[in-house]
Amino acid sequence: MYFASDNAGPVHPNVMAALEAANQNYAMPYGADRINEEVVKRIRAMFDAPEAAVYLVATGTAANSIALATLSNPWETVFCSPMAHIQEDECNAPEFYMGGGKLTLVPAIDAKMTPDALRKSITAEEVRGVHGPQRGPISITQVTERGTVYSVGEIKALTAVAKEYDLPVHLDGARFTNALVSLGCSPAEMTWKAGVDAVSFGGTKNGLMGVEAVIFFDPKHAWEFELRRKRGAHLFSKHRYLSAQMMAYLANDLWVELATSANTNAARLASGLRQCPDVRFDFHPDANIVFASFPRSAHKRLHDAGAIYYVWEGTLEGDDPDEMLTARMVCDWSISDDYIDRFVALVKG
Ligand SMILES: Cc1ncc(COP(=O)(O)O)c(C=O)c1O
Repeated sequence: MYFASDNAGPVHPNVMAALEAANQNYAMPYGADRINEEVVKRIRAMFDAPEAAVYLVATGTAANSIALATLSNPWETVFCSPMAHIQEDECNAPEFYMGGGKLTLVPAIDAKMTPDALRKSITAEEVRGVHGPQRGPISITQVTERGTVYSVGEIKALTAVAKEYDLPVHLDGARFTNALVSLGCSPAEMTWKAGVDAVSFGGTKNGLMGVEAVIFFDPKHAWEFELRRKRGAHLFSKHRYLSAQMMAYLANDLWVELATSANTNAARLASGLRQCPDVRFDFHPDANIVFASFPRSAHKRLHDAGAIYYVWEGTLEGDDPDEMLTARMVCDWSISDDYIDRFVALVKG
């Protein structure tokens, strides 16, 4: 019963097979492989963006950090939510790659920035002349770190504020496809048509071994990104193994199939938990992440049965069996119905 994270799940067999196939021969290194050429074509077609610059890196932190560095100057600040992965979980890599840039935290509701809060944060910067940080990119996470999903309208409202100040918008799509499936829209509708300039297009959490694509809809960023990726030690020599994973992901819409499974698994989990007394949802589970609080006694039953997930707030140790503790449960594509039902039964008691 493994609900700790979607990147704790296995690599999809098609991806392993694609790696095996890519291993049969020789290929030019550093992104000059044929498979990469095809990946770029496919991603451009999927996003209806024939000019887009598309690059592969191995981690989401690299995708976010190098993309943000490309979109900013070292004296600028990135506007993001206080829960953003770039703020809480990247060990200052964005600031490192930005070479001195910083983050400005925009108050958020359910981990989503609001247009008013964003405008307030933007106008509060760049008021100290040469002494203060200058305004930089906006970074939106989709699916958010609390499992909620911005509607296309909500994204448009944020990008409209960014455009008022002529600021670029980055989307951290570590769970891009989970959000896409949840909204039922197209990749273009969720990104450039909604005013997004650059995307970290995740794959690792959705069945890949370790690949994310960085997409710039304006190819003017291409060369700078390439230089920053190389200088930042994220240009893979044996790049074909990144390309092969991404190719398998896109082939026959595996990316959509896997995100649909993950979201369906989370919906089953949420629906089961809704039947349990004493379960309170902390955020609306829009995609494949569920935050719910239930009594310590239920957590202990789960723990004793070997269930693995994060206790987000509070600790298992404590005397009061009724104290509510918050769990973060993330479903990947591979979790079986049996595991979900067993987990729910243990919460029920
Ligand atoms: C919202 C979000 N962004 C980015 C990442 C990418 O992180 P990593 O560098 O671990 O691949 C993660 C992974 O946990 C994430 O949850």
